[in-house]
Amino acid sequence: MARILITSAIPYINGIKHLGNLVGSQLPADLYARFMRGRGHEVLFLCATDEHGTPAELAAAKAGKPVEEFCAGMHAVQKGIADGFRLSFDHFGRSSSQRNHRLTQHFAGKLAENGLIEEVSEKQVFSVADNRFLPDRYIEGTCPNCGYDRARGDQCENCTKQLDPTDLITPRSAISGSTDLEVRETRHLYLRQRALRDRLEAWIDSKTDWPILTTSIARKWLKDGEGLQDRGITRDLHWGVPVRKGDQPWPGMEGKVFYVWFDAPIEYIACAAEWADANGLAEADWERWWRTDKGAADVRYVQFMGKDNVPFHTLSFPATIMGSGEPWKLVDYIKSFNYLNYDGGQFSTSQGRGVFMDQALSILPADYWRWWLLSHAPENADSEFTWENFQASVNKDLADVLGNLVSRVTKFAASKLGAAVPAGGAFGPQETALIADLGARLRDYEALMAAMDIRKAAAELRGIWVAGNEYLQAAAPWSALKTDPARAEVIVRLSLNLIRVYAILSRPFIPDAAATMMTAMGSADWTWPDHIGEALRALPPGHAFTVPENLFRKITDEERADWQQRFSGVRG
Ligand code: 2FM
Ligand code: ZN
Repeated sequence: MARILITSAIPYINGIKHLGNLVGSQLPADLYARFMRGRGHEVLFLCATDEHGTPAELAAAKAGKPVEEFCAGMHAVQKGIADGFRLSFDHFGRSSSQRNHRLTQHFAGKLAENGLIEEVSEKQVFSVADNRFLPDRYIEGTCPNCGYDRARGDQCENCTKQLDPTDLITPRSAISGSTDLEVRETRHLYLRQRALRDRLEAWIDSKTDWPILTTSIARKWLKDGEGLQDRGITRDLHWGVPVRKGDQPWPGMEGKVFYVWFDAPIEYIACAAEWADANGLAEADWERWWRTDKGAADVRYVQFMGKDNVPFHTLSFPATIMGSGEPWKLVDYIKSFNYLNYDGGQFSTSQGRGVFMDQALSILPADYWRWWLLSHAPENADSEFTWENFQASVNKDLADVLGNLVSRVTKFAASKLGAAVPAGGAFGPQETALIADLGARLRDYEALMAAMDIRKAAAELRGIWVAGNEYLQAAAPWSALKTDPARAEVIVRLSLNLIRVYAILSRPFIPDAAATMMTAMGSADWTWPDHIGEALRALPPGHAFTVPENLFRKITDEERADWQQRFSGVRG
């Protein structure tokens, strides 16, 4: 049994996320966490809300609420939606927690002690009309790299380039729209990332098994002329972690806060401490996940994120960890994702385009979305959500293949042979062939899931369902019943057992349907089927089962057209 620490990129607090965000981090992380738990490993799966920085302040101002109140409310909303999607976090924390304040200040103090912080007097954009500095997203303008005209001061959403507010062409205030901007002096702390460049490069070079998407982005940032820059880690804002050197004040930095991208990844650690606090556990209980001197040396740490987050996780956060000189865990594997597009364009939070997580759940249960999103995860290239594809995938894979198998087997068995697993005799050649086929497929599925090869794993799971259907079709217990009732019993006995096995294998993708299947089979034994032949004998003759409600319903053409229309515009 291994110990696996899993984190999903922590979503900004500023609003409800869309399906593109979900499939790019939280959902695949959940799939992996569920699979690893299913295999019997010890898993700590963490996520949180990313509450600091300008997005939070701007959204709170728009909602007319104090930022603390806005964040508390939105955290609860995001938690509710995460539960709705069955995201099985061990803890859903908050980057605004006291734990994160203290740890962020601690890391800054260590970095300063190690000579990795520089105080710089620099020029920042100041808005005369708003009477304040305009860091990051408080400023918008045209991207100098791609020409996108709504680029933000910290990053261009279109080409993912990280920016400084002073890079923007024709900048304007995101608060008032004013272009009456001037450049003023202010002092800030810089993390001397360049001093860690060689260590970072050697570390990235050692990650030969990482996805190309992850390493290519990291290398680009290391090698480009402008590559790894020293990075400003403080801001002239009120909302955030106050700048302190450990538990001491930081002279000259009064009234400033740490930059959101400095404190957000530290929340991965703080979240473990919050988890311990919430569960009445000791310091040692979370430190054994994070401190290599306290038990975490044998933890495997896997992070999930969209490609725009990769530079921060391959360079900036590791720079914080390495630079601290303390034995914190470094990530072992980064699974990153391309973008999911929406019906011929991009999903966009700022423009409200696409299907948002709350809207998705209001029209169909989580499993439908989970299945489509995961089986079409944008792993090797951007992928696209279309309603036609969604309808086809749900109707074929879930309703026709899996749902139909469960319904046919249980209804036939209950009506013809009674509400208990029948006896019959020994398995025959058809069962032997099925067991051999499923055994091979199962090993393949396990390998793909362990490698986080998500689309291929989904295809293999579908293949496993199809194999069961084909067996049932060929074995035809309804015909056998007339000529050889004992044979019909064997087929039904195996098929009922197959439903339980399918519940276990399918649970990472479709946990609600899996629970329904398991309950209908009168079992709570989720033990992974290491030996498929044995697993298909787990429910003995005489074991009671019930006929479940239809697992999945089909999406009609009318519904599809209606949703297509309803979600064609922008969210109001
Ligand atoms: O892109 C985002 O949604 C960020 N809030 C992700 C932060 S991940 C981490 F560093 F905490
Ligand atoms: Zn751009």
